[in-house]
Amino acid sequence: MKITVTVDGTSYTDEVEPRTLLVHHLRENLGKTGTVVGCDTSNCGACTVMLDGRSVKSCNVLAVQADGHEVTTIEGLSDTVEGDLTPVQEAFRDCHALQCGFCTPGMIIQATDLLNNNPSPTEEEVRVGMEGNLCRCTGYHNIVKAVLQASGQSGTAGGERS
Ligand code: FES
Ligand code: FES
Repeated sequence: MKITVTVDGTSYTDEVEPRTLLVHHLRENLGKTGTVVGCDTSNCGACTVMLDGRSVKSCNVLAVQADGHEVTTIEGLSDTVEGDLTPVQEAFRDCHALQCGFCTPGMIIQATDLLNNNPSPTEEEVRVGMEGNLCRCTGYHNIVKAVLQASGQSGTAGGERS
């Protein structure tokens, strides 16, 4: 099937199989390898991208479902602020909210969606909003702190919860 998808501001028309997952189309056909596959079963959130401005797990979307739609990956996110890091990206850097970095693209996309819809979340709302994104390294403490910092709050995410 022929599909046309706008990815990170560029329109791409390609032939795909009806069964092709969006994440595989992004990585294998368009070279958008910043979006990663952690599980392929819609559990980990590593593959999270924006589809028409809302976060989706791209291993849970068929490429054909994105036909005529707009996708933003981690590679296109910073273009929205003229090439600088977005506040969420800066906060992840400042708060050391990553170790191996594998989950980070999905975390940043999900955090961006969360803050677009709730600009001043509580710590609990951040934890609930990010619960579909798994990290095997950080214990989540600094990720929550980073999302709170990006929201303009102090990022006091306290306690020993992980
Ligand atoms: Fe999509 Fe894990 S690769 S949720
Ligand atoms: Fe390693 Fe999250 S930083 S999986």
